[in-house]
Amino acid sequence: MLPYSFYKVVHILGITLTMVSLGGMLVHALNGGLKLENQARRLLIGMHGTGVLFILVGGFGMLARLGFSHGAGFPVWLWVKLGIWAVVAAVAALPYRRPQLGRPLLVALPVLAMTAAAMAVYKPW
Ligand code: HEM
Repeated sequence: MLPYSFYKVVHILGITLTMVSLGGMLVHALNGGLKLENQARRLLIGMHGTGVLFILVGGFGMLARLGFSHGAGFPVWLWVKLGIWAVVAAVAALPYRRPQLGRPLLVALPVLAMTAAAMAVYKPW
């Protein structure tokens, strides 16, 4: 049984990996770069995949330590976080398909991350 603090560090490592990789892809694509031209393409995709996995592992690990049991209804703040996670996971498909979204996404991602963090800190609902 690993401690709560371990899962929290995994959670934050996952967030960092995810956001850094998306930033790298988005800036490259919005500057006109093509997917195959990105020298760090494989590294960024690997960081993103590992990051979204670590966010989930860390998040559900913390939930287990906080005493949430399987089958128990999740509170709204947690559903909001899961929704934000799904968006952050899906955004990796966008940079080269919709390079015009690069700039708005660079602004939206930190706002989404802040919202997910606030859900955990304040648990409004
Ligand atoms: C991109 C998505 C996410 C971001 C940016 C994020 C961010 C954070 C941050 C910064 C914290 C630490 C807050 C503190 O100081 O206590 C945290 C805690 C937490 N997160 Fe996330 N999170 C995300 C997704 C998720 C998901 C998908 C889950 C559920 C599987 C989750 C479950 C939790 C839990 C259980 C805590 C600890 C709450 C507590 O200690 O009371 N998070 N999150």
